[in-house]
Amino acid sequence: MATQSSPTSIGKEESLSLVGHRHACHVMLYADTKAKLFGRTPIKHIVLMQMRFDGLLGFPGGLVESKENLEAGLSRELGEELGMAVPITPQDHVVSCPAPSCPNLITHFYVKKMEESEIKEVERAAVTMATDHGLEVMGMVRVPLYFLKNGGGLPSFLSHSFISNSRSQLLSALQQFGLVSQRELDEAVRQADQLRQ
Ligand code: GTP
Ligand code: MN
Ligand code: MN
Ligand code: MN
Ligand code: MN
Ligand code: MN
Repeated sequence: MATQSSPTSIGKEESLSLVGHRHACHVMLYADTKAKLFGRTPIKHIVLMQMRFDGLLGFPGGLVESKENLEAGLSRELGEELGMAVPITPQDHVVSCPAPSCPNLITHFYVKKMEESEIKEVERAAVTMATDHGLEVMGMVRVPLYFLKNGGGLPSFLSHSFISNSRSQLLSALQQFGLVSQRELDEAVRQADQLRQ
């Protein structure tokens, strides 16, 4: 992406062979929807992130224990943070990167498409069932993918603060899975940069 510096990726298998590294796995869950904001602005897709305990936005997921494989660790973290089982398979893996400014941590990113009804079930469970609700996770949030006046919508969302490289994970997934066009992403990043000044 021209306007966004992404960390260099590393092969998943190659990263697992590195000695003395920890691994963290996070997932972007999303669904298509016909819902319209104010009855007129199509929201197109429901994309889930979370407000973390540290006030930063990020994706659900977490550190993998040394005894776990990546997908098992991610599934356990989702149980803790979302309060329900969301099966993740190796086919859902998108990219792995060394974490910027966190030596010896590899971040693995997954994307999983769900039905709208399943996403709504995740949102309910995250509040009512998740042991981490109000502790590690302050709440799930939907990413606004549309543009409103004065930077409202996606630009405003992108002007917030994100953990590690989760902002670039979001941007590249929106592009890769065709949820927002490249032209709109570039425009959203440009407006977000202005809002942050
Ligand atoms: P604990 O149970 O307290 O260990 O938290 P956790 O296992 O849920 O870990 P967390 O989700 O905070 O992720 C571990 C590390 O991965 C963080 O310290 C960040 O450096 C990084 N991280 C957290 N969220 C994201 C994310 O959405 N994307 C990326 N790339 N990295 C993240
Ligand atoms: Mn209203
Ligand atoms: Mn966790
Ligand atoms: Mn976590
Ligand atoms: Mn954890
Ligand atoms: Mn924990």
